[in-house]
Amino acid sequence: MQKIKIKSPATVANLVCGFDILGMALNEPYDIMQVQLLNEPNVIIRNNDYFGLPEEAEKNVAGVVLLSIIERMKNEIGFEVEITKQIKPGSGLGSSAASAAGAAIAANHLLDNIFSNEEMIQFAMNGEKLASGVKHADNISPCISGGITLIRSIHPLDIISIPAPDLYVTVVHPQIEVKTSDARQILKKQILFKDAIRQWGNIAGLITGLIKNDHDLIGRSLEDVIIEPVRSILIPGFDEVKKKCKEAGALGGGISGSGPSVFMLSKDESTAKAVEQVMKEVYNKIGIDYNTYVTRINKRGVEVVSG
Ligand code: HSE
Repeated sequence: MQKIKIKSPATVANLVCGFDILGMALNEPYDIMQVQLLNEPNVIIRNNDYFGLPEEAEKNVAGVVLLSIIERMKNEIGFEVEITKQIKPGSGLGSSAASAAGAAIAANHLLDNIFSNEEMIQFAMNGEKLASGVKHADNISPCISGGITLIRSIHPLDIISIPAPDLYVTVVHPQIEVKTSDARQILKKQILFKDAIRQWGNIAGLITGLIKNDHDLIGRSLEDVIIEPVRSILIPGFDEVKKKCKEAGALGGGISGSGPSVFMLSKDESTAKAVEQVMKEVYNKIGIDYNTYVTRINKRGVEVVSG
């Protein structure tokens, strides 16, 4: 196989209380990538979108992932990539992870699947390091495997798939850019013991709620007393959106990844659409452009479209 086309999904990292350890894949939006195998150690990148991302391999998220694979393959191969990005960079919807994970999976297919999921996560984390300055897997892991994943540890990698209930996800992306690196820099270096206790209670509650399909438990565990109070300052209308979405019937939600997107989980489609309406009303009132998505949890992860 010499050429492959894949779909790489958006992801919601953190799932409110699980900073850097929980993530969920979405059916929409997604990026499309076409990757071709070359027989010389080179990475050629073409961006088929308007985001103006760098095309030099060393500065491109997919590029650094492919360079690390080429190095592992003793410089005997190369790749040509065309990226049609639909997940806006800086949206908080795992745009860099979609490029990184998509590149790793596509390359692995072209190499007859010689690498394990774990190795692909390791390759893909090089892309996250370039984008945010830190190797984190809470977008990459659900992007690769689909569903909801727990990253119990990065050193050594220990990733657990959590059963994902058939919930609807509503997302609003106010059109302002929040760089993950900036949103990490503003976080406190130390937290109060009482906040830590509340946070790990919520994480345990959320995981139990997901496993038992207990919607009320999921809803009340979607609480973040550590990160959200700091980061929500970067998102205009955040408190109002959250309050009104819950009044409209959402189970709960919060900042998607490092923001500015905000996501809400709902039991059914009509509630998810009512939640979307509320989000639109808030941002129309504030006067900020936005995109919304009403979608579901993606259970497949990166998918091969052809090749
Ligand atoms: N866990 C990361 C953060 C995700 O919140 O900084 C970034 O997409």
